Amino acid sequence: MAEDTFFITTPIYYVNGEPHLGHGYTTVAADAIARWQRLRGKKVLFLTGTDEHGQKVYQTALARGVSPQAHCDELSVPFRELFDRLMCSHDDFIRTTEPRHIKVVQRILQTLYDQGDIYKDSYDGWYSTSAERFWTEEELVDGKCPDTGLEVEWLAEENFYFRMSKYADRFRQWIEDHPNFLRPEARRNEVLGLLRKEVGDLCITRPVTRLPWGIPIPWDENFVTYVWFDALINYISAPGYRSGDPALEDRFQAHWPADYHLVGKDILTTHSLYWSTMLFAMGLEPADCLYAHGWLTSGGRKMSKSYGNVIDPNLLVDAFGVDATRYYFLREIAFGADGDFSYEGFLVRYNAELANDLGNLAHRTLSMTRKWLGGTVPALGALTEEDQALFALAADVVARFDEACTTLRFKDALGACMELAAAGNKYVDTQEPWTLNRTGDKARLGTVMRLVLELCRVAGTLLTPVCPVKGPELLSRLGTELPELSGDGLASLARLDQLTEGLALELGEPLFPRLTELPAIVVEAMAAQAATTNQDAPEPEPKPAKETPKMETKDPISFDDFSKLELKTGQVQTAEKHPNADRLLVMTVDVGEESPRTIVAGIAGRFEPTELVGRTVIVVTNLKPAKLRGVVSEGMILAAGGKDVVDLATIPTDVSPGTVVR
Ligand code: ME8
Ligand code: MG
Repeated sequence: MAEDTFFITTPIYYVNGEPHLGHGYTTVAADAIARWQRLRGKKVLFLTGTDEHGQKVYQTALARGVSPQAHCDELSVPFRELFDRLMCSHDDFIRTTEPRHIKVVQRILQTLYDQGDIYKDSYDGWYSTSAERFWTEEELVDGKCPDTGLEVEWLAEENFYFRMSKYADRFRQWIEDHPNFLRPEARRNEVLGLLRKEVGDLCITRPVTRLPWGIPIPWDENFVTYVWFDALINYISAPGYRSGDPALEDRFQAHWPADYHLVGKDILTTHSLYWSTMLFAMGLEPADCLYAHGWLTSGGRKMSKSYGNVIDPNLLVDAFGVDATRYYFLREIAFGADGDFSYEGFLVRYNAELANDLGNLAHRTLSMTRKWLGGTVPALGALTEEDQALFALAADVVARFDEACTTLRFKDALGACMELAAAGNKYVDTQEPWTLNRTGDKARLGTVMRLVLELCRVAGTLLTPVCPVKGPELLSRLGTELPELSGDGLASLARLDQLTEGLALELGEPLFPRLTELPAIVVEAMAAQAATTNQDAPEPEPKPAKETPKMETKDPISFDDFSKLELKTGQVQTAEKHPNADRLLVMTVDVGEESPRTIVAGIAGRFEPTELVGRTVIVVTNLKPAKLRGVVSEGMILAAGGKDVVDLATIPTDVSPGTVVR
């Protein structure tokens, strides 16, 4: 790979349903990096697309009564539209039903077959339609597919196999030699764990009698290619590997190995083991880094269609705008970890950082400059110690932002960016420009305003990869535009003397207007979702050691007895681990009283403290206080499950704390 190129990919998404926020999440993350690398002067290739073969897509098409190709043509459109809506700047969008891809998959198959890396064999075992793969008896969990928890069936059939086992040692060694190949660290350990078991060969065909929808094997018309073997190849077919077109072959040479494959943790095995061994067989090296991020959850569960808790990204864009939507996900969730979505959390983050810290700083500075200094970029005078400190901070923030962005720590990168806004606000408060104006010290007033405007410029620039509309909009109000950041561009970006003195500033409307309540379209959508959430949907990722709920029956009670219970909604304000007990969390919960209650609950094994903050739960408020391992608990929270809590009873609608539940 040439030094000045940068290649980043997302998974290609199955066209077996409408895209949802999860798909948007990975693609937006990739987009933010792509945008930053472009600013840094790299020749970026950012690739996304749709995965259109395989059993699931075939069955979805059949169920809709349309041909698989027509289905794919139709369903790949909303993915493109969503990514456009989210302002994803991909350079290529590949569909696996395109001839440019099919041709390359077939060439690769033929080569591997000719070199003896593909052979025919017969196999019988447990086949899971939902996971599209065979499992051994030992791998099944309660006789079901360990991946999906759904039915498996015993199948015997002839197929072609890829000699994955032949390359397993090389793969193991590759991971050892390249500590940054599998990220985050937990994923690396997961794959190393997987490799402790013997690696078998990979079945890479399906008989057309069972699945007619796939790329035909070049030497045997009775088989099509297994969807994963086909799909993974998109990462090299799209840039031009073995395309036969010299310009495209050059593009491939210039960009491979990719810098990043971004995927969700559901597809770690295929992208690490399958894909790397395939590449080894082709004589190619794996990408520099395979980064598997966590789940977006809602109400504590992975967003999924079947559970009915998916959030429509289009709704978020309608309600909050594309910048705030992108910002929220990359700022709220530590990339790599799971993160829970809530509208309340969205509002809090938006108001605190975009509206208050940055938006307000820009607005008040621009408006003071207009009122008192004629609305042009003021001159920079002599610098005080406080001023010098701002220069130092900006340099530090820019360096940290770049480092964090390069290693995909978006939360930290944006956090660093917001430090500029916080520092700017504090600086305005201590320098008191209103006093300078009153006392007539225009020179000093100009310097103070100029430095804050410069801070806004740095923040606006750093924000741009994540907020591609409002970032440049802020810069344009400051009379400037996105700078070139290649070479030592970062150093000049950080210098607080880059604006052009005398240039007109533009006040405009606040960039991120404060939101006092959730927009009506959101409130309506929440109500509609609450009504349709399917509580009976199977847990999408079965947790291996889940307790089977025992049927428990108790004696009937009178309504009077029931009425003795006082149940109220409470909003979790803080949550932390109990100092003396691993199983317990200590929370403060607002139940509409003067001060929040302290409640201790045995749910530490089920929830990270941070995922609970902001949730509206149901609290038994008239239970006598009890001391749990030294902490007095002033209530109890309702939850489903026995000793092992499955989930908390939550109210998804926006109700005020202390609302009676009955
Ligand atoms: O697996 N949270 O496609 P897919 C975060 N076609 N990310 C999520 C998510 C969630 N709740 N839900 C989905 C496939 N994603 C294959 C890939 S690649 C050669 C073939 C994102 O439509 C995440 O990136 O099931 C996840 O890995 C991907 O969507 C799965 O998309
Ligand atoms: Mg999937």
